[in-house]
Amino acid sequence: MGAVRFLLNDQWQEITSIDPKKSVLDYLRENLNLVGTKEGCASGDCGACTVVVGTVGTNQSMQYKAINSCITQVVTLHGKQLITVEHLRQDGDLHPVQQALVDNHGSQCGFCTPGFVMSIFAMSKDEEALFEEIRQDELPNKDAQREEVLEALSGNLCRCTGYRPIIDAALGIKKQARKAKTNDCFARKQAKTVAELNAISSQPVFFEYTRNGNRKRYFSPTSVAELAEILSAYPNARLVAGGTDLSLEFTQALKGVDVLVYLGRVAEMCRLTESDNHIEIGAAVTYSEARDTLVGYYPDMGELIDRLGSRQVRNQGTIGGNIGNASPIGDMPPVLLALGASVVLRRGAQQRELPLERFFIDYKQTALRECEFIERIRVPKPVDNQIFRVYKISKRIEDDISATCAAFSVFINDNTVDDIRTGFGGMAAVPKSAKNAEEILRGGQWHRDAIEKAQQALSNDFSPLSDFRASAEYRMRVSQNLFMRFYLESQQGADIVRVTQHA
Ligand SMILES: Cc1cc2nc3c(=O)[nH]c(=O)nc-3n(C[C@H](O)[C@H](O)[C@H](O)COP(=O)(O)OP(=O)(O)OC[C@H]3O[C@@H](n4cnc5c(N)ncnc54)[C@H](O)[C@@H]3O)c2cc1C
Ligand code: FES
Ligand code: FES
Repeated sequence: MGAVRFLLNDQWQEITSIDPKKSVLDYLRENLNLVGTKEGCASGDCGACTVVVGTVGTNQSMQYKAINSCITQVVTLHGKQLITVEHLRQDGDLHPVQQALVDNHGSQCGFCTPGFVMSIFAMSKDEEALFEEIRQDELPNKDAQREEVLEALSGNLCRCTGYRPIIDAALGIKKQARKAKTNDCFARKQAKTVAELNAISSQPVFFEYTRNGNRKRYFSPTSVAELAEILSAYPNARLVAGGTDLSLEFTQALKGVDVLVYLGRVAEMCRLTESDNHIEIGAAVTYSEARDTLVGYYPDMGELIDRLGSRQVRNQGTIGGNIGNASPIGDMPPVLLALGASVVLRRGAQQRELPLERFFIDYKQTALRECEFIERIRVPKPVDNQIFRVYKISKRIEDDISATCAAFSVFINDNTVDDIRTGFGGMAAVPKSAKNAEEILRGGQWHRDAIEKAQQALSNDFSPLSDFRASAEYRMRVSQNLFMRFYLESQQGADIVRVTQHA
């Protein structure tokens, strides 16, 4: 047996046995009586439960991220530092973030406030890290700073519409952090925290928990070989990466779990590497970690990733989880289909590589065999004659699931379509390419007439459903329009302004 150990601020917590599905939120409130962290929705949507988790970065400094404690299992905290709103006071005084909210009258109901405080605190820690990298004369302008604040607060809801004072407080903190390096207790104790966490990082973690005669198990392997072995022994084990999908089975569907296996310490799966032609994304790499590399090669992915869930969700959620969840409305599969990505699957010592289009079989059914898991995702790097775009259509900008997501990648030579690949979400039971439309365009002229034919062919490719996000007719019409928009945007010199779409 190996216990879960983590720092709660600067105090060690040790858990030798607990129901593996127990959330950080419930652990704080029920086991530790730390009730500053609130429950609003228990589904990752409102941010009232936001806490900050610190991990040791590759440069041996602490990296702090805001996460939703309601959809994070407490057992996944091994080797990390957990900071809650109770820990921010500095020698009896409020933390500068708390003081800024008081000074700007940013707290009204008080229920959402701890979540806002923690998101702004995490943002201030990001600023501290940037302080070392960015020169004062390189600071973003006011509009860009406001955008950054809105992005940092995208996962926090204020139900009484008191956003302005909260945003003002966050802007003040941002300005302050860029002017002078903060020296709060977390910064002062950083070296000690890093050393303490490093000392336990590779410890084995697994235990059993029995209640009413039901035995449950938790494993946190550190290598793919170990993970493969655990899955061979427990074929029905559930995998958890970020937990932003799986946790809803616990908090919304009230299901239990007999064997839970955490992927966040599997070294090979937490790496993002590059070869000459590919970006190789370990299945446990989060959106926040993968963003800059992906956007570096495919700038159009920036808006999509920034609109995927909230900052908290992107800090936890993984691309591997998005694929493993196999939802027809996941945002990354359409992109990855259009880019011709593949998944590397593993069972025991055997690996196989599968084009993503062969991974999704039917609604929530995948090509994964018993005991098999996604080890990494291989994304081809762009080539010279390639044009790529992705469009997310949702009712809200922040923290909303797509009604439809469409991605296009075309390879053009002398105005002839060498190849074209597409990926659509929300149009079928699985994320899917528009094969009929692609066939019409492949080998022909890249011309408006051909696009109009491809638009018509979409009705042979898809029969979308109507639901509360959008009607079938809307989904079809908007997908056809996005095809034309992609064509227009691909035209050199075309005066097309990139605007955000709403359903
Ligand atoms: C508030 C909120 C907003 C969201 N918004 C969006 C959005 O805008 N767009 C979007 O696409 N999604 C959204 N999601 C869904 C979710 O965040 C994503 O699907 C995310 O990528 C899931 O990753 P995860 O690591 O959290 O997966 P987990 O919850 O850990 O796992 C999801 C499923 O995949 C399986 N799995 C995980 N890793 C592997 C693996 N390596 N091999 C095999 N199976 C595996 C798990 O067993 C589980 O069944 C949202 C979720 C929340 C809570
Ligand atoms: S309680 Fe709403 S996001 Fe966690
Ligand atoms: S201040 Fe809490 S809902 Fe607005």
